[in-house]
Amino acid sequence: MPDSNAVISETSGDEKHGIVGGYVPERADWTIDQNWQAYTAAEHATWKTLFERQIKLVPGRASQAYMDGLKALPITADEIPDFARLSDIMEKRTGWRVVAVPGMVPNDVFFDHLANRRFPAGQFIRKAHQLDYLQEPDVFHDIFGHVPMMMNPVMADFMQAYGEGGKRAEALGLLDNLARLYWYTVEFGLVEEPEGLRIFGAGILSSFTETRFALESQSPNRIGFDLKRVLRTNYRIDEFQEAYFVLPNLDTLLDLANTDFAPVYAAIAGQPDYAPSTLLPDDRVFNHGTGEYHAALAGS
Ligand code: CO
Repeated sequence: MPDSNAVISETSGDEKHGIVGGYVPERADWTIDQNWQAYTAAEHATWKTLFERQIKLVPGRASQAYMDGLKALPITADEIPDFARLSDIMEKRTGWRVVAVPGMVPNDVFFDHLANRRFPAGQFIRKAHQLDYLQEPDVFHDIFGHVPMMMNPVMADFMQAYGEGGKRAEALGLLDNLARLYWYTVEFGLVEEPEGLRIFGAGILSSFTETRFALESQSPNRIGFDLKRVLRTNYRIDEFQEAYFVLPNLDTLLDLANTDFAPVYAAIAGQPDYAPSTLLPDDRVFNHGTGEYHAALAGS
């Protein structure tokens, strides 16, 4: 099972972001102390294993913005990063801080954090025998995957705008649509760079197997980003994506952050959703996927 599964109903429009079973948070914003001193040697060792295999893959595959952010932060193989140390550097650059949460949090709590430039990161790390299986975003996904991009001013503004827009979309009953924008950018986005397509989505960059699949497999569609089209496209939460959307550049996120979604929502109202495998006549196609990977899954 590849680790794409994971990641996430963090944006699925579910009533709750995880933590099932009557968990009662101590604080209204669901934050907890990271309690960095309490990580065990085994947990730091799991981080090191994940870091070392991933750091070999990202050069030449991750976007320049991601590589720049990673280099500027104390994210190393040595240990699970200390959120306070990361935050002090991020805050100077883009005004963001990382706060610890015990798992996924309710949508309204998630949006409120983002709207206030706080990124809620899983405090825990996956088990050593489940390196590629995640039920909820853990510290490796959230820190290695997301945080370097949040050193980029454009992503920083986009994430805040998403938090504000999320509250509005939820009130309008359109969160399922808006969540697809987050999914196909922040989690699984690709971007055109002079040397070729690059990854900036955290769901890919924190996944050993999907980092190669997303860029190099002939199976998935790779399609030029179009806002209305993305808002209508379903996604898979249990497997590699069947489609990846490609931004012409990261500044597109800034345009999106400044977009009035009211007319966009009006334009897609009542329109049917697209399956993730769909290609449309108007799509700008970077790769017309063979679909072989998901066909094999369906047949197995
Ligand atoms: Co994520």
